[in-house]
Amino acid sequence: MKVLAIESSCDDTSISVVNSAKKIEFLKTINHRKFHKDYGGVIPEMAARQHLDIMTILGKTIRKINFQKIDAIAATHGPGLIGSLIIGSSFAKGLAMSTDKPLLPINHLQSHLLSPRLTSNLNFPYLCLLVSGGNTALVLVKRADKFITLGKTIDDSAGECFDKVAKAMGLGYPGGPIIENLATRGDIYKFNLPLPLTKQDNLNFSFSGLKTASIDLINKNKLTEKFKKDFAASFQSTIARIFLKKISTALNHLNNNNIKIKDFSICGGVAANKFLNSSIENFINNKNLIFHQVPLALCTDNAAMIAWNALEILSIRNKKFKQYNVRPTPNILIHENFI
Ligand code: KG4
Repeated sequence: MKVLAIESSCDDTSISVVNSAKKIEFLKTINHRKFHKDYGGVIPEMAARQHLDIMTILGKTIRKINFQKIDAIAATHGPGLIGSLIIGSSFAKGLAMSTDKPLLPINHLQSHLLSPRLTSNLNFPYLCLLVSGGNTALVLVKRADKFITLGKTIDDSAGECFDKVAKAMGLGYPGGPIIENLATRGDIYKFNLPLPLTKQDNLNFSFSGLKTASIDLINKNKLTEKFKKDFAASFQSTIARIFLKKISTALNHLNNNNIKIKDFSICGGVAANKFLNSSIENFINNKNLIFHQVPLALCTDNAAMIAWNALEILSIRNKKFKQYNVRPTPNILIHENFI
């Protein structure tokens, strides 16, 4: 089977064709970061206009694709920015209706959580840490359509914390990769930052206290290159310590409930961070579990994971998917399915 998918939930416009043998036959992603850079975050209306323009360019490139060989069309229907979602999902709806193909409306968060299975062999159930710009959650992936959120952030996401702290240092957007780069030359022990909710035995995260404490510290110091490097290293290692504590609590929780898992992965934009990845990989390997790293191009928003999600659904659901009236939903939750 072969699926053509569209992703447009935030500030990446992406089209991909993936087949059920896990081959990414086509993937083109254009991000709008340079347009949002000066604002320290994504401006929703500007993102929608960018999707509109880019979709015209990408629309031309897909003329090369042989539509007779495409079995279904898929598109992100949420969560995300409503203007952005409407553009991608309408484009997909037009393609599906005009070619009389099934249309699969996809939950973007579920696609991130299934993305490790596109490049690696993970068996259900597995544990996944989802860390994107809008979400931080520990999720038990039971099936391609069954997700149990064990814990999630009660305020900001880790990605937002990276972005806002970088903004406070005048470093630009998105902040994650810039902080990661600075941190390679800094001292992780230089600053002691708070580790919110790590003393509690629950699986929720909180990053707003860390964000405020970090911004306070930044405002009290001279922004020398040395300060920025040491701060970035200490900040990044604090995030790693929070993740390790919560993953450890989650593994104990699964063990106590007799839920056996073999595989672990981390997905979403923040999963592109090499330091976080290797800290978690070492920890997971010591627990005799298998750590699966998602390739960089599939960590941040992309349509290949949307296509793969659709293929996973098609393999377990015997349905025609020819209803074209599912509406995009900006705030759909991790476990909620569109179909
Ligand atoms: O999943 P994603 O591409 O988009 C949405 O959530 O829509 O995640 C974007 C987030 C941003 O907060 C960005 O700063 C963060 O991922 N990010 C990183 C790195 N690359 C991207 N955070 C830490 N280290 C990185 N290397």
